[in-house]
Amino acid sequence: MLTYDEALNFSTVLSALTCLSAGVITLSLLLPYFIDQLQLREYPGALLAKFTSGWISWIISRNQWSETVDRLHSAHSMGSFVRLAPNHVSVSGPSAFEAIYSHPSSALKAPFYDIFSAGGAANIFTTRDRAEHARKRRVEAHMFSPQSIRTLESTVSVHFHALEDQWDALCAHIQKAGSGGAEGIIGSVSWKVHDSRVWFDCMPWFMFWSFDTIADLSFGRPFGMLVSAKDVVRIPKSNASGIQAIAEAASHSKKTELEMVEVPLIEVLVKRGKTIAALAYLPAWAQPIIGRLPGFREGYGAIPKLNGIAIAAVADRLRSPNGRADMLTKLLEGRDGEGYRYGPQELSAEAKTLIAAGGDTTARSASVLPVFQELC
Ligand code: HEM
Repeated sequence: MLTYDEALNFSTVLSALTCLSAGVITLSLLLPYFIDQLQLREYPGALLAKFTSGWISWIISRNQWSETVDRLHSAHSMGSFVRLAPNHVSVSGPSAFEAIYSHPSSALKAPFYDIFSAGGAANIFTTRDRAEHARKRRVEAHMFSPQSIRTLESTVSVHFHALEDQWDALCAHIQKAGSGGAEGIIGSVSWKVHDSRVWFDCMPWFMFWSFDTIADLSFGRPFGMLVSAKDVVRIPKSNASGIQAIAEAASHSKKTELEMVEVPLIEVLVKRGKTIAALAYLPAWAQPIIGRLPGFREGYGAIPKLNGIAIAAVADRLRSPNGRADMLTKLLEGRDGEGYRYGPQELSAEAKTLIAAGGDTTARSASVLPVFQELC
């Protein structure tokens, strides 16, 4: 039990500490604004964006990123440049491409990209170091050469036909249903016949098609999602054991049993994507803290799962090669300026880029096609 005086002292100390913390937080937000070391104060944008990167994180977590940035660019007279965070300006305009992205430009990638390497090595997309990027480009040049890409065309068409076959099978339900309606499920995707048309959501199909294609191109075998119409892939029970399996396979040493579990790839990517961009704007120390809060936890937990999907794909491919000259073959043949090849960590980090950068983007771009066709 505390005496009255002790309780009074305790509450005074607590109030002083609360005021002190509030003062420190306020100062840490205001000082950078007034010192304006980056000379960004003149740029227009949301008021909160000038003081904290929490504002843009919050916008992204509410799924309003693109619309908000687009609206800001249209709303301001100086609309080519708008402020999104204390250290971040969004630039819109064709002349910006050359200035920012051309090789001689001194604009480097920001710490925004760091979280995309979380739990693994940096890859060609995430590295912020110019020399490291040049090294990776050298190793991967053969994989992305026009000659190598041309040899992949026949594999691409196999999966186009597989998608066509699945959609033809769906269309066949129109005749079977006659003048009535019908409905059903293939794998995990539902369909419905009415008005003599078959209705289904194209998005999962484009995802299955795209990820199967990229897996076949990269690792010599599809994930099998298009045929099963299910969002299922395998990951090692522990990513460390997967990395060890890659090392063993690459050095042709004994093959330890690799325990696998099933996860939904598309779900993992979507959850990770939503969370990771929101966290990417925050300081590195805040990311694991915010990432464990409700609303972020699932997406944050998806980060090691995506790493696991890439590790499993590389491990499977190395443990049971099928002789096809896939993209991983080219990656394994690549050497940097010193003659070194990628080790297991780098191989799986680059494999992750192929899956995420190649699969998700292609599926989402393709999903616009039916809308476009409908409009024509
Ligand atoms: C319609 C499809 C695609 C779109 C819209 C797209 C878009 C992009 C964009 C915007 C970037 C720059 C990202 C950044 O640095 O912030 C990028 C980089 C990259 N993409 Fe794609 N991409 C597509 C397909 C692919 C495919 C199929 C692959 C591989 C098989 C791929 C591999 C890469 C790689 C490796 C990088 C990093 C390049 C570097 O930093 O040197 N992408 N992509």
